[in-house]
Amino acid sequence: MLKKIQETADFIKDQTNFEPEVGIVLGTGLGGLVEEIEIEKTLEYTDIPNFPVSTVSGHKGCLLFGNLNGRKIVAMQGRFHFYEGYSMQELVFQIRVMRFLGIQMLVVSNACGGMNPAFNVGDVMIIRDHINLLPGNPLIGKNIDELGPRFPDMGEAYSRKLIQLAEKYANDQGILYQKGVYASVTGPTFETPAEYKYIHIIGADAVGMSTVPEVIAARHMGVPVFGMSVITDLGVDGVVEEVSHEEVIKAAKTAEPKMSAMISAVVKGFDQVL
Ligand code: HPA
Repeated sequence: MLKKIQETADFIKDQTNFEPEVGIVLGTGLGGLVEEIEIEKTLEYTDIPNFPVSTVSGHKGCLLFGNLNGRKIVAMQGRFHFYEGYSMQELVFQIRVMRFLGIQMLVVSNACGGMNPAFNVGDVMIIRDHINLLPGNPLIGKNIDELGPRFPDMGEAYSRKLIQLAEKYANDQGILYQKGVYASVTGPTFETPAEYKYIHIIGADAVGMSTVPEVIAARHMGVPVFGMSVITDLGVDGVVEEVSHEEVIKAAKTAEPKMSAMISAVVKGFDQVL
């Protein structure tokens, strides 16, 4: 595994000659942040050795290198999901490669269902913590000591300082946002009303099919994480409505400017607060 990560990172360094400070995982329908990146180089996943290839429509598969708000970033345009059939280790390969390229901070974004009754479709949510409901963990198996410890601490999976930075920016700009706990499930089915209720009762405000494995891999390596979700549908008791992939993408597009602005602000200022 370690050799493969190194091999892929070396290939990318050769191709790009670029040292990113920040890694960004662009979630479903949130590709618009891309418009704010001054792109210097694009690599298709299919051209990168050892990279899995994305299978969902609306998920492109490219690694983008460029500048966002004056910072060198690498962005994953198209991520990998457990429901596509990848193993947990495959899901986090790119995160590990981005670390080997030099990232000092990871931003994750996603679309998800909201279960907190105060939430509305189109809201953006700062992820303050998560609950892993996936049937696994990317760190299961022999620990790769070169990456991180056997038993990583998860007391601050999402950096409090980065959350404060985002909140200050949003408050200054008058951007309304929610803050909450994200639970990860396998999908590809959306939840039944009973499942939404259960996931809310155990302490989550939102539920989605991604993000948590990536965050675990980043924290294993000691990389601080900032995460945001767009609430694309509601699983609130009594108001569970039918949900489709198209609706999810539509709601994500509406919320995108708010989320892009907050992420850009965190990317700009992260080294001032960490
Ligand atoms: N559940 C799980 N994943 C999702 C949802 C949801 O309601 N909406 C968008 N991704």
